[in-house]
Amino acid sequence: MSAFFEERVLSVHHWTDTLFSFTCTRDPAFRFKSGQFTMIGLMVDGKPLVRAYSMVSGHWDETLEFLSIKVQDGPLTSRLQHIRVGDTVLIGRKPVGTLLVESLQPGRNLYMLGTGTGLAPFMSLIRDPETYEPFEKIVLVHGCRTVDELVYEDLIKDELPHHELLGELVQEKLVYYPTVTREAYAHQGRVTDLIFNGKLPADLGLPAVDREQDRIMLCGSPGLLADYGAWLKANAWVEGTNTHRGEYVIEKAFVER
Ligand code: A2P
Repeated sequence: MSAFFEERVLSVHHWTDTLFSFTCTRDPAFRFKSGQFTMIGLMVDGKPLVRAYSMVSGHWDETLEFLSIKVQDGPLTSRLQHIRVGDTVLIGRKPVGTLLVESLQPGRNLYMLGTGTGLAPFMSLIRDPETYEPFEKIVLVHGCRTVDELVYEDLIKDELPHHELLGELVQEKLVYYPTVTREAYAHQGRVTDLIFNGKLPADLGLPAVDREQDRIMLCGSPGLLADYGAWLKANAWVEGTNTHRGEYVIEKAFVER
């Protein structure tokens, strides 16, 4: 049996010159947990060319959705960015990943800190009612260079609060904090600085981030993971694993940049 399902592209959306997303069919045998990723890609010269991509879609969705950067000389994304409706994509049969609610101790506020396409797994997580259960608030922070990179903003702000099944939970618990580093915007600055200096929780009227009570999920640029990972370790935060619930989790697998 091949390691991949062959799925059909259903839609493609180009957000910017460097970002696009697409949906494709989903084999009923493909099951995943919110926050996980799998290897996806294309057949190139008779061989699978694949990279790690988090699922953007809800684990209960009938179709799959992925968010990607476009790297002009990137082996995969130079090709993947040109996919069209009806094309075939490869979807790895074995989803994995560390951004699981079940790896975290229940707590007060769960901070989801993502930069760039690191938003993807959080999109899946915020569409899962079970994500909300162990926490009072879910604070979704998306850091980008420019305003046009704040993908899914409309869905998060306008659609999810009115979603038939999730709307009530989203209105009660989800707080969205988009921030931009290289343009003027309502919130500016790096995700790291905004948490370390306390501005982000203060802007939201929330108490300062506290290891005893709050939880963190991290996904994004290598710099973010290195800087934030070092801060968490220095402040004695305990990393969650699939055998031991902790205070934070980090996704280290990431698409080519
Ligand atoms: P900056 O513009 O200051 O580099 P990229 O497009 O390079 O993946 O970056 C996405 C976002 O992540 C940008 O806003 C960028 O800020 C930010 N970023 C890059 N490195 C770090 C880091 N070490 N900690 C926090 N944010 C970072």
